Formats: sequence, structure tokens, C-alpha cells
Amino acid sequence: MAPSIIPEPQSIVLADGHFTVTDGTPVLCAAGDSDCSWTADYLAKLVKRTRGLSLAPRTGDTAPPPHGAILLRRLDDLKATGAEGYRLDVTHDGIVVSAGTRAGLFYGCVSVWELLTQTEGRAPSIDVAALHITDAPRFAWRGLMLDSVRHFQSPAFVKSFIDTMALHKLNVLQWHLTDDQGWRLEIKRYPRLTSVGAWRVPAGAGAAADIDPATGKPRLYGGFYTQDEIRDIVAYAKRRNVTIVPEIEMPGHALAAIVAYPKLGSVKNPPKQVSSDWGVFPYLYNVDDSTFDFLENVLTEVMELFPSQYIHVGGDEAVKDQWKASPKIQARMHALGVADENALQGYFTARIGKFLAAHGRRLIGWDEILEGGVPPDATITSWRGIDGAITAAKTGHDAVLSPAPTLYFDNRQAEGPDEPPGRGAIVSLKDVYDFNPAPTSLTSEQQSHIVGLQANIWTEHIRTEDRVDYAAFPRTAALAELAWSPAAAHDWHSFLVRLPTQLGRYRALGIRHSESALTVRVSAQFDRATNDAAVSLTNQADFGSIHYTLDGKPPTEDAPLYKAPFTLPLPSHITAGAFVNGAALTAPTSDNLTMLSLRRRDSHELKLCSNNIPLSLEDDAPVDGPRAVFMVDIMNPCWIYPHVDLTGLASIEAGVGQVPFNFQVGDDIRKIVLLPPQTPEGELEVHLDSCSGERIAVLPLAPAVANDTVTTLRAALAPQQGVHDLCFVFTRRSVDPIWAIDRVQLVPADKPAVPGRE
Ligand code: ACM
Repeated sequence: MAPSIIPEPQSIVLADGHFTVTDGTPVLCAAGDSDCSWTADYLAKLVKRTRGLSLAPRTGDTAPPPHGAILLRRLDDLKATGAEGYRLDVTHDGIVVSAGTRAGLFYGCVSVWELLTQTEGRAPSIDVAALHITDAPRFAWRGLMLDSVRHFQSPAFVKSFIDTMALHKLNVLQWHLTDDQGWRLEIKRYPRLTSVGAWRVPAGAGAAADIDPATGKPRLYGGFYTQDEIRDIVAYAKRRNVTIVPEIEMPGHALAAIVAYPKLGSVKNPPKQVSSDWGVFPYLYNVDDSTFDFLENVLTEVMELFPSQYIHVGGDEAVKDQWKASPKIQARMHALGVADENALQGYFTARIGKFLAAHGRRLIGWDEILEGGVPPDATITSWRGIDGAITAAKTGHDAVLSPAPTLYFDNRQAEGPDEPPGRGAIVSLKDVYDFNPAPTSLTSEQQSHIVGLQANIWTEHIRTEDRVDYAAFPRTAALAELAWSPAAAHDWHSFLVRLPTQLGRYRALGIRHSESALTVRVSAQFDRATNDAAVSLTNQADFGSIHYTLDGKPPTEDAPLYKAPFTLPLPSHITAGAFVNGAALTAPTSDNLTMLSLRRRDSHELKLCSNNIPLSLEDDAPVDGPRAVFMVDIMNPCWIYPHVDLTGLASIEAGVGQVPFNFQVGDDIRKIVLLPPQTPEGELEVHLDSCSGERIAVLPLAPAVANDTVTTLRAALAPQQGVHDLCFVFTRRSVDPIWAIDRVQLVPADKPAVPGRE
């Protein structure tokens, strides 16, 4: 069987025999080839870390010893394997990686490491089956974007993230360093960008009450990267063939800079503090020459730090209200002979593009920069679907495919209450894998302008570094296969077969990741006629055979095979897992099924009253420790518990929480309907069949108002018969805070109420 390598190489030809790698197997480089020596050391460290074996890198000795070696061989002909390609031969005499470039040697060694990690755990020796690999990438731009503004990641994390990218043979990190909520890059000439612009008071009552003893004021959230840290990270990335493309947003997403230097803004009195709101702000840079001087001075320092050919200048979501309202900007626009505000953004981008070009760099921006006229050599990051890329390619511009929602990895990747917060649409591993990077409406000449793919990790709802990794992996494995492997190798089943090994690599490296594509989910519905549970078992990828036990023991392949939904008496404890060829794909799932658990729904298991895309929002409290996560439509916080048998129920319990309304939604704020409360603090109302149906319970919010975490409210239910929908909606006087359901528990008359979860 072919080994598990992700992304799948261009070609693998299996041969007979194997080579055994042991402690002390040499990794050989020619004398004087320091890049090769670094790569050999890198491979040795990876193998030590993940398999416990100690390889022996050696420079200046390329004659393999009798017991064989791993030889890293430079080809004199740089073009022989392309800019990033390699060849890899395993025979019973050893392993040879051949490449014309440093990048090719690196990727060849990553593949060697993958051959050495076909199984998990420490090993005294590893047999590698003989084969020949020829490999090179499909696309030149294989990227991830990391938003270090909305939440800040440590330099150590950024390096670890780059390392994991490189192990997927990705080669571009677009680093989102400036935005409304922070400026994260030290600029020597403008110290207030970071002394002021890098810090904010987090949203919500809990943060406002979290007083920093050093200042007597609310503790600030933020941080920035010093120029020394940037140089270190850039060099670290370069070793791994990752180019960092810095993103400096303009003319919008500029509030942090404008707070630091108000003269840069388009209104007289911009905010005095960096905001902790998410969304689209109206604050744009103005178009004074002095503002261009500022931006050029910033970009001069940026270019000194980042050797990347491309500099990303943002350009997205620049709403033009302030430009329209400013007599000074209007006068300037007319003096320039520019037709409208979109064209003014075109002028802005062209002027910056010219400056970058004069310094030997190229401009790249989000697809909005196409709207106002765009410099001929500009490259487009297409995020509003792929239309921007299609327009770009048809007009001779290069483009990177980065469409929302599929390549927005801040979207959840599975259902379920255990999924970390994020945008609420589900972008599964298969959704990513199924993305077609060759738009059919382009000719093959135009296709050549699609330089690659990039997934974006925005971090409004990704507060921790662990969750960045969780969002990225393994969806990045699917992205890598789209970006690297030949189109002909695209095969979801083959990817799934290789995936468990990749998850094992993440475990060996200690990288937080999602296993939700393969983990078994237990769904159970209460059947009142029989007092049983109707149980179904699935995994998202529909891969492997599912086996289960009812005695609490982890299942093996000898345990009963799940074939179709079945019934279980209550209470029951079920443990289930998916298997392929005798091996468990992930850790098993356990569920306690009881009369109460079957009548409980987390907000992620309720339906929303609207068709809007919700957010999976984390509570803002407590300041330290685990927080609840609510599935909520911020424009219409309203939930449906569908199709529930109300016969014999005595009461209802609802866990409710409050989160700050820290969203810039512009005029849409008027669309939010506020139901008038009957008591000063408001209520949670429960309606029968629909939200305008009979109100069957009212749960006053008074006990919850002073509690910034989840509060359980209770109310008796008058006797009801039969199956109904229940609608849950809050009455309130203002949009802030947003009240949200954490969970709903329906309590039968013959069962005592149990506080919280069982
Ligand atoms: C974007 O998501 N505003 C590029």
C-alpha cells in the first residue's frame, strides 16, 4: 500500500524491499552546504521528537556507509526538479533526497519524515518500504493568513504555526498585523502606533471591572511584535521556505493608527481609544500628502523587515461615508479629477503601488481594490467568493483564491457543543477538500493567473493560540493537497485513508487539532411511547465502520457493529468509535443517555429563528477559566426547540448568559427588534409552536442580571399534550447586552429537577 503522505506527491512508484532506519543512521550532506546541513539537522530533530530515534547528521561525507544512510543530494541543474520539487528514492541501501534548490531539499526531508511517521510512538528502528517519489507543487502560492490583531499570538506560537505550515509544504504566511482593534508591528518612527495603538480594553462588564493595580484602570489587552522579534520570525520562516507577506491595511481598517495619530483620519474627532468592537468601522485614512508620507515611512520600515516580494495593503471593507462627508476630501477628490470615492480608493492604491514598485516590491490587496481601478501589476486576494479572482485573471492580474466561507477557517468545522467558538457556518474538512481551485469560466491562459490558494484565520472569535491550531488543522491538510498535489491526484477517499496517520503526526508533535471529521457522534431522541432512546451513530466523513459498547469499555472492532438506528432503554451508557482495518480512527465518544439528557438541548443543538448565519460566541466571563459558548444570531437572538413531546412535563430550566454587543453593524442596527419587557430586567419567554404563539412560560432575568456567567432560570409549565415546537426569545430594552441561551432542560413530572448538567 502507498504510504500516507499529505499533500499527496506528484508520483509514487513502489518497489521491492525496504531500508531500516535506526538510531545512528547518518544524514549526509556535501561539505560547505550549510543549507543542507541545516535541513539534515531539522529532519533529525523532527524524527527525534516524534519517534524518539536519533539520526546522525554529518557534513562533508557523502559516501554512504555499508549499513546505509539518508543522503541529501544537491542537483547541479537547478531546474531539474523545479523551484520547489524533489526526488526521493528508498532502496534497501538507503534513502536519497535529490533537489536543485534548498526548498526542494527541505520538502524532500519533510516527505522522509512522513515516511518515518507511518505509525505512532517510539521505535528502536523503522522499516521504510522501497519506492521512488517525484514531486513538485501545483501552485506557487500555498498560504495561510493569520490575524494577530483581533487576538494576539506570542512570537513563540507564530514560529510553531509556521513550522506546522511548512510540514504541510505551505510557503506563504500572510500576516495580518494592523486593523481597527490594534497595531501589532513596532515602527520606530511612529512609536504611538504600538504604545497607544496596540492596546484596548476588552468588551464587556467583566473586563471593565478587571482593574489593573498598576494603573487603577481596566486591564488592557494587546501586544505587538518588536522589530527584533519580526526579524527572528522572518528568518525562522525563511529556513522553512515560508515567505511572510505582511499586511498593512489601508485605507480602511485603520482605526488603531488613527487613534494613535488622529491627523491621519477623515473626521475631526476620531475615538480616543482603540476599540474592542468587531465588524466594519467607518474610519478611513484621509488623502493628505502627509498621510501618504506616513504610510510610505511605515512601508519603508516594513520593507526593511520583510524581504517578501509582495506587500499586502488590505483595501477591504473601506466604507466611504467619511470621505463623502468631508469637504476637504471632496475638494481633494475634485482637484485630482477623480470621479467618485471608489476611484479615490483606486488613486490611493495606485499611489502606494507606485511607491512599492519603486522599491522593487509588488502590491497585493483584497478584491475590493479592483473596484476603483487597480495598478496593472497588482495581485488580488479573492475573498468575496472567487469572482474577484475571475475578474482579475480575465484582466491580466494574478490572483490568490481565498473565498469565504470555504477558505475562512474561523468558521466552525463541525456541529456540536464541544466545537470552539467561531463563525457559525460549518466548513467541514470535506468542504475544504472539495473546493475547486481551477475556475471553469477561465481559459487555460487565464488560469495561469491563479497563482494559488490561501485560507484565512481571522481571530475575532479565536481567543487562544490552541484554538488557532484547532481551526487550522487538519483543514490545512486539505488545503495543502489542493495547493500542492496535481489535480489528477484529487481523491477524497484516498485523503481520508491517509488522514488518521496525519492526525497521529499532530499528536506526536503536540499540535492541537480537530478530529471531528472522524469522531463518532451520538444522536439520541426520546421516544415517549416506549420510554426508550432512538440512537444513531455517525461520523462527519462517513468513514470507517462504527462499533459500540454499552458497558463503558472502549470498543474494539470485535464490539457490535453499528448498521442502522436502534433503540436503547433508559438509562444507557454508550461508547462508540470508528475503525478501519482494525485501527481506531480517533478516541471513542461516550454518552450517558437518561430521561433528562434526552430532553436537554445546548444552544448549538437548538434551531435559530432566522436563516441568518449565526456566531458561536464565547462568553466574556469569567476573566480567567473556562467560558460558556453560545450559538446566537446577534441580529435576532431567538431559538427553536423543534418537535418536542410536551406530554408529562412539569417545568423548564434554561441556562442563560449575557455577552456584550460589540459589533459594528452600521445602519443594520435598526433591524434589531427589541421586544418590550414586563419587568425592568427583562424576561426569557417561551412560546408554543411559533414565536408568535401562546406564551407558556416567562422566566424573569432579574436573578441573571448581576451574574456575568451562566445563570439557570426555572419555571413551572402548565400541562401540555403532544408534539410541539418551542420558541425561546428574550425581552429587553437595548441591544447591549445580548442575552443568549446556553441550554434548555425540560423536566418531566416524575423526575426531580437536577441543577445544571448531569
Ligand atoms: C475580509 O474578510 N474582510 C478580507
